[in-house]
Amino acid sequence: MEVLIAANPASAAAHAASAVLEGLLRVKRRDTVLGLATGSSPLGLYAELGAAVARGDIDFSTTLGFALDEYIGISPSHRQSYRQTLINDACSVIGLPESNLNVPDGMGATRAAITAAADAYDAKIAAVGGIDVQILGIGSNGHVGFNEPGSSLASRTRIMRLANQTRADNARFFDGIEHVPTHCVTQGLGTLREARRLVLIATGSAKAAAVAAAIEGPLSASCPASVLQLHPDVVICLDEAAAAGLLNREYYDASALGFPVTV
Ligand code: F6R
Repeated sequence: MEVLIAANPASAAAHAASAVLEGLLRVKRRDTVLGLATGSSPLGLYAELGAAVARGDIDFSTTLGFALDEYIGISPSHRQSYRQTLINDACSVIGLPESNLNVPDGMGATRAAITAAADAYDAKIAAVGGIDVQILGIGSNGHVGFNEPGSSLASRTRIMRLANQTRADNARFFDGIEHVPTHCVTQGLGTLREARRLVLIATGSAKAAAVAAAIEGPLSASCPASVLQLHPDVVICLDEAAAAGLLNREYYDASALGFPVTV
């Protein structure tokens, strides 16, 4: 696990973009697969990736995108659906064609229909060869994707009830908490762990406790993001405020300086 602590959110986004590019550029096949997160955390990262496209460092025109999650019960054309959010915040910024964007289907008429679509989503990820780089944020309660505390560390894409904390945190995107959906479909922790590289970005003091629990706490369903401890290629990009709860800070800073060539 690599923990990079930047002075401010803009530099954390630049670190995260470098980690995404490094993960994608080492993929040999042409059509890379990128896992996309919604929310505020990755916006600077998407802007940095857009700048990399403008410089000619990367091209997302043949990349396949897979969303982490989608609300249940709001249509894909709703302005707060995660499909629309990703089209606006990610696809249009980095030049990933809308037709290449895959999002879990939360519109099935029955629980069984949504579950069948969730199973098909995992199967599609596997069929395209797996996700090369998965971008992640973290909830203030330690969720990744919408895997709320108590989620099995082996879970697959499935229906989840959103925690009250998550609905309160996301009320800013809706006209009041009563309009925030109560359920979603999310990639499971077992699903997202299969991505070749995970890049998590977190900024701001509201994330400090969750970040500390994820990186330095016990591996536990109580902090779903602690599942990252099991992954062999994770880069966590923080600003000072999000890193404030870390005890092992000196080690992360020294490690970020790289391997001394004189040894
Ligand atoms: C988003 C997602 C969530 C968010 C998390 C942080 O697709 O799955 O895990 O990454 O809730 O949200 P922000 O970045 O808005 O604080």
